Amino acid sequence: MRLITEIKELRSEVAGWRDEGFSVGVVPTMGALHAGHMSLVQAGRGQNDRVVTTIFVNPTQFGENEDFDSYPNTRAADEARLKAAGVDVLFAPARSEIYPDGFSTRVIVDGLTDCLCGASRPGHFDGVTQVVCKLLNMAGADRAYFGEKDWQQLTVVRRMVRDLNIATEIVPVPTVRAPDGLALSSRNAYLSPEALAVAPRLAQALAEAAHDIRSGMAASGACAKATEAVLETGFAKVDYLECRTADGLETVEKPDTACRVFAAAHLETARLIDNWPV
Ligand code: PAF
Repeated sequence: MRLITEIKELRSEVAGWRDEGFSVGVVPTMGALHAGHMSLVQAGRGQNDRVVTTIFVNPTQFGENEDFDSYPNTRAADEARLKAAGVDVLFAPARSEIYPDGFSTRVIVDGLTDCLCGASRPGHFDGVTQVVCKLLNMAGADRAYFGEKDWQQLTVVRRMVRDLNIATEIVPVPTVRAPDGLALSSRNAYLSPEALAVAPRLAQALAEAAHDIRSGMAASGACAKATEAVLETGFAKVDYLECRTADGLETVEKPDTACRVFAAAHLETARLIDNWPV
């Protein structure tokens, strides 16, 4: 695995692969890798001749009082895992490489970013689309891999790629869960053993809400019941727990199209998100 920190080197490596007729996959990450990230890498490995993984903790997608400064960093272990998984290039640029002095361009996807995490983390998706647009341009990959745990991110990135005619296919990869149902997340590292025992309740509540909605309960009632259940188990705050359409993220009361139940909730210092199909 080659470690690259400069954009021009990444472009030249990918151009060499292209000359040889190789297909390329890219897996954008912020590091602190877990089995969920590795399933993205595995999907990329299976579908492409060459795989690039990026590690860049993107400052522009964090709000002022969020965890940018304390975001988990397991760099040595990350490199070992990526190497063992057969990644060809790890692209790990410095902040100045991505955002040089005078950088002033924003990429904004309207509508899809107003709800759910967009409402509770204003500006978050503007930072995500800004950096993902840049990473996709730099990598020039055939395919890019995103986890379904961050369903809204996946939806927003897909819309951006369509709207801006970026020639990279966005490939969704199913959420990886612990045996108790907890969706794997780098932020689970913030949880104490006691909180780790409570955290799976979020996925259970979403599954119950989805079941209730499928059984005919109005979505608002099912989501209110699930919110109460989450708070009763020890979560400090629920930012949202809502049923929305899978593609357009529109609210629904009686689903007649593909829908999902989405939640974000605070447990100790972690903000956990998850979603479940109805
Ligand atoms: O999902 C993430 O880890 C980040 O939002 C991403 C896509 C790497 C952009 O910084």
